[in-house]
Amino acid sequence: MKSAVIAGLGAYLPPTLVTNDDLSARLDTSDEWIRTRTGMSVRHVVEPGDATSDLAVQAGRRALESAGGGDVDALILATTTPDKQVPPTAPDVATRLGLGTLPAFDLSAACAGFLYGLANAAGLIAAGAARRILLIGADAFTTMVDPDDRATVVLFGDAAGAMVLRAGHAGEPGAVGMPVLGSDGSLTDLIQVPAGGSRSRSTQPPSKQPDPDDVYFKMNGRETFRHAVKRMSEASREAVARAGWNLADVHRLCAHQANLRILAAVAGELGFESERQLSNIAEVGNTAVASLPTLLAHSAADGSLKSGHRVLLTAFGGGLSWGAATLTWPDIPVAAPAS
Ligand code: UT7
Repeated sequence: MKSAVIAGLGAYLPPTLVTNDDLSARLDTSDEWIRTRTGMSVRHVVEPGDATSDLAVQAGRRALESAGGGDVDALILATTTPDKQVPPTAPDVATRLGLGTLPAFDLSAACAGFLYGLANAAGLIAAGAARRILLIGADAFTTMVDPDDRATVVLFGDAAGAMVLRAGHAGEPGAVGMPVLGSDGSLTDLIQVPAGGSRSRSTQPPSKQPDPDDVYFKMNGRETFRHAVKRMSEASREAVARAGWNLADVHRLCAHQANLRILAAVAGELGFESERQLSNIAEVGNTAVASLPTLLAHSAADGSLKSGHRVLLTAFGGGLSWGAATLTWPDIPVAAPAS
């Protein structure tokens, strides 16, 4: 059976920066609170009017360049912030990348979306339905957080990361193990945007109009924190066992960059000392679906991730949804995520 093998990687960060001091200048927060409670210092944000597809196209182009060009047979766009509710954003991204009329679809699994995307890509490749796939994780999360809510606005930044996956063999450098995935809908309210979907729409009669505040992202941070640590740790153990590895064999832990304290707790649970952990949370914040591929691109470009490294990926987000996957890092050219 064919395995998915990484052939290219690229990431894009929009140029506008928002620092902790920018936020504390207009909100009741401080650089000290944000750094000590989250590990974040600065985040990149889209320009007003820009959207997820604008980030996705840039990252997709970089990943295709990293892969040395060539065709792809399908495009998967994992995103929590599609440009519009209808149509899906992926076909527009495919057209703007000059990919023609290939199958292109959006995938929604919140911050675990890149791992759900990897599983879909690996499945299409294993089934022989595709030979080369462009998987993009892109989110313009700052477009849905309340700019005046200190509890959420300090956390998120915008970014896109993309990977070209090709058909290959499980033993090759770049081979991705089939991800371990999970979900728990009994905790669906922990992370949500209450309005805008079919449950609560602005097209409803005036008596049923959503509260204007319900268009914004809401999160029960403390509860989410607890579940994030538990689920990422459990999924990670399972993915490593599925690969036939031990945790001690893993060279690099690449975990969703939601909070430095969550990363420390997961690393502590799994026994990863700081030298084996990858992190760019200080420079980008939580970039939702884009978090994992952007971190891989940063780390490959700065040399902390090297060809031959055994890597453990894990992520967690709304749904609840989570996952983990293993891969070996290939020898491919990767540029630093750029604006
Ligand atoms: O990507 C999807 C998955 N997301 C996550 O996994 C995020 C998980 N949660 C977290 O990362 C953390 O819970 C947060 C960073 C969101 C919050 O940190 P916390 O240590 O859990 O703080 P808290 O929510 O318990 O709030 C502690 C205090 C509260 O004040 P009181 O009630 O103790 O007086 C908050 O009002 O901190 C206050 N607070 C702030 N203070 C200054 C909340 N946000 C801020 C802020 N600046 N930005």
